[in-house]
Amino acid sequence: MRLLSIVGARPQFIKLAPLATAFQAAGHEHIIVHTGQHYDVGMSEVFFADLRIPEPDVNLGVGSDSHAAQTAAMLVGLEREIAAVEPTWAIVYGDTNSTLAGALAAVKIHTPLAHVEAGLRSFNRRMPEEHNRVASDHLADLLLAPSRVALENLRREGLEARSELVGDVMIDVLTRVRAAVEAEEPPLPAPVRDLTDFVLATIHRAENTDKPARLAAIVASLAALDIPVVLSVHPRLAARAAEHGLELAYGAIRPVEPLAYPALVASVLRARGVITDSGGLQKEAHALGTPCTTLRSETEWLETLEGGWNVLAADVASLADVVMRPPPDQPPTAPYGDGQASERIVALLEEHARAAI
Ligand code: UD1
Repeated sequence: MRLLSIVGARPQFIKLAPLATAFQAAGHEHIIVHTGQHYDVGMSEVFFADLRIPEPDVNLGVGSDSHAAQTAAMLVGLEREIAAVEPTWAIVYGDTNSTLAGALAAVKIHTPLAHVEAGLRSFNRRMPEEHNRVASDHLADLLLAPSRVALENLRREGLEARSELVGDVMIDVLTRVRAAVEAEEPPLPAPVRDLTDFVLATIHRAENTDKPARLAAIVASLAALDIPVVLSVHPRLAARAAEHGLELAYGAIRPVEPLAYPALVASVLRARGVITDSGGLQKEAHALGTPCTTLRSETEWLETLEGGWNVLAADVASLADVVMRPPPDQPPTAPYGDGQASERIVALLEEHARAAI
C-alpha cells in the first residue's frame, strides 16, 4: 500500500511515531506531509529526531494564523499533495486544525480516509478540537477508536459500521519510550534534575490561555502552591502571557522550555503529580501511575478519572486541595490497550484496502 500521513502539531508527531515504524516493518510505502502548524524546533523537529520518525517528505510551512486562514492554507496545500501521491489511504491523527484540513482535502478528491484516535468527545462545542474531531470522524471511511468510550460515542452518532476498537497508539510509543528512559536518563531541565519533590504542569488550551482573567487566576494559583511547580511553557502560553503582561516565573513556578518527549516521560515518572489541560498528558500520567489534576470541566479520557488518578479542577479555588490529595490506593487500570494498537491499525488498513478493490 501507499500510505500518506498528514500531521502538523506536536501530539500528532507522537502518534505518528509508532505507526511510521509499523508501516515500515510491514513493507508499505509511507509519505509524510507536515502542514507546518507547529514550526518551532522544540515543538516539531526534536520529536522527529527523538522518536526516530522519518523526515517529512513535504512541509507546507503554513504556520500560525486564525482558524480559517490556517485551515484554508492547509486545505490548498494538502489537496495538491494528496492528488500528486494518490495514496491507498490518507491518514489523519487526533483533533487539530491539521486533522480537519487533511480529512476534508482527502474526501473531496475521493481518497480513502482513516482517522487515528477517532470517537473522542468532550461535548464542549466551544473547543476548536471538538469541531475538528466530530467533522473528521463523519468524513472518514475507517474510524480507529482508542477506547471503548470512544467506540460508544461513534456508535451513538451512527458511525459503528466504519469503526474499529484498536487501542491507543500513544500507549505504543509511551511503552517504548518509558523503557528507554528507565534504561538511560535523557537530558532534563535543571529544576527536574535538582528538585526531589515537585509537580509538573502544562497549560495551552485556548479556554485557559486566551481570557486574561482566567489565565491570571490559573498562574496565581500555581504560584501559590506549597510545592514547586515545573511549568513546561507551550508557545501559546508564552504568547498569551506576554500579551496580557503576565509574569510566569514567580512563587512556586519554575518555567522551562517545552520538553522533548523522553524528558517529558522521565519528568512525569519523577513528579509527585501532574497539572494539565492536555489530553495526551492526562493519559500519560495515568499510564505511568502519577496522579493528575486536569484544569478543565470535562475530559475526553473518562477512564482516567476512575479510582481518582485524574481529577477535574476547572475551578482554580480547589486547585491546592486537589493537587495535594493523597495518591489513590489502587493502581491504575490499563483502559487504552496493550501497546499494540499500531499493528492492529496496519492490519485493518490492509484488510479494508483489499475490501475496497
Ligand atoms: C494546537 C491544537 C491543539 C493541540 C496543540 C498541541 C488546534 C486548533 N489546536 O494548539 O488541539 O493540543 O496544538 O500543542 O489545532 N506557536 C509557536 N510555535 C509553534 C507553534 C505555535 O510559537 O511551533 C504559537 C503561535 O504563534 C500561536 C500559538 O502558539 O500563538 C498557537 O498555535 P496553534 O498551532 O494555533 O495552536 P496550539 O495552541 O498549539
